[in-house]
Amino acid sequence: MTQRILITGGAGFIGSRLAKLLCEDNDVMVFDNFHPQVHGYTRVEEATGLVGKCRIVRGDVANAEELNSAVRAFNPDLIYHLAAETGTGQSYDEPTRYNLVNVVGTSNLIEAVRAHGSAVRRIVLSSSRAIYGEGAARDAQGRVRNAPPRRIEDMRRGDFDLKDEQGAILAPVPTSETLSAAPASIYASTKLMQEYICTQCVAGTEVEVAILRLQNVYGPGQSLRNPYTGVISIFCQKVEQGEWLDVFEDGQIIRDFVYVDDVVDAFRCCGTSRASPPLPINIGSGTPVSILEMAKSVLSLYGRSPDDHRVTGSFRAGDVRHAVAEIALAREQLGWQPRTGFATGLKHFVEWAKESQVALT
Ligand SMILES: NC(=O)c1ccc[n+]([C@@H]2O[C@H](COP(=O)([O-])OP(=O)(O)OC[C@H]3O[C@@H](n4cnc5c(N)ncnc54)[C@H](O)[C@@H]3O)[C@@H](O)[C@H]2O)c1
Repeated sequence: MTQRILITGGAGFIGSRLAKLLCEDNDVMVFDNFHPQVHGYTRVEEATGLVGKCRIVRGDVANAEELNSAVRAFNPDLIYHLAAETGTGQSYDEPTRYNLVNVVGTSNLIEAVRAHGSAVRRIVLSSSRAIYGEGAARDAQGRVRNAPPRRIEDMRRGDFDLKDEQGAILAPVPTSETLSAAPASIYASTKLMQEYICTQCVAGTEVEVAILRLQNVYGPGQSLRNPYTGVISIFCQKVEQGEWLDVFEDGQIIRDFVYVDDVVDAFRCCGTSRASPPLPINIGSGTPVSILEMAKSVLSLYGRSPDDHRVTGSFRAGDVRHAVAEIALAREQLGWQPRTGFATGLKHFVEWAKESQVALT
């Protein structure tokens, strides 16, 4: 059945891919402020490939009136909420803007739905693995627990391991949804607030909320301009410019890179499932990849020596050591599973990035 689907942030990396898929069978409205940090400063509607396929509204989620008028005019059945400020490091420098867009923007959306969204039956929020902080780890007794934040003094000495409060080493394990939230950055805190706002505001109403906590998403369409987010995309830009790659810590920061089409498929499953999905659901590949390994693969795909990198030993506030998702819940509840392995996905991404960088210059 054709649905009316509103996608905030629908011009972005994940949102535009989702919009392209959904507009084949549905009436889709994209609401996006075309943030210059992501899209550049020229008019970019055409660049999304969505013109003529979707309704495109240029608007800011931080502006309640702009959101109200979009929801009033469209009265969607389903909303995907993806609009956000997304840079972990940048969030420390601009906490007010991050709060305004991510937190107030989400409460604006909920108020717009209450006032003008009588048809809305489900809101799907794009949340983040960042809310787990350092994530799950096993102690010497075999118990799985939240790994506490790492100590700056240890990291200054080049000791990057996860440890408990007494300094005993913890072994990282994939993080499941049952782990308590422990955000370790302003960005992560705003994503957790988004989750709370969505679930608390709709409690007792007919509107359902689904939350997907995404790991590191990568693939064609990721902004090659944004210097604050997307480590693979940042590495591609540096290699393209002939630079060496600086790899932080000892190179053994672990990430779970999940291909954009798999993520889009998870959003599709979440929007179409009959039963309300349980809260929240991890979306990742479930496969650990070190940043060093990824850097060497990117260099090789550009025809450079995999040794054109420096392991710097430096570290950044808010960076966690090990982020890998336990994805059993997504498999069981959404019937979803990742289909694109990292080697294949990275090859697609680098091929696309090479062409796009030519177009950007
Ligand atoms: N990409 C990832 O690895 C990842 C991981 C976890 C969670 N997420 C979440 O997924 C969502 C989408 O991420 P993405 O990677 O596609 O990012 P993106 O930056 O490519 O897309 C975000 C879109 O939101 C728009 N936007 C930003 N501020 C806005 C505002 N004030 N009003 C309206 N639109 C605004 C931008 O113009 C952009 O088109 C975000 O909520 C992000 O927090 C992404």
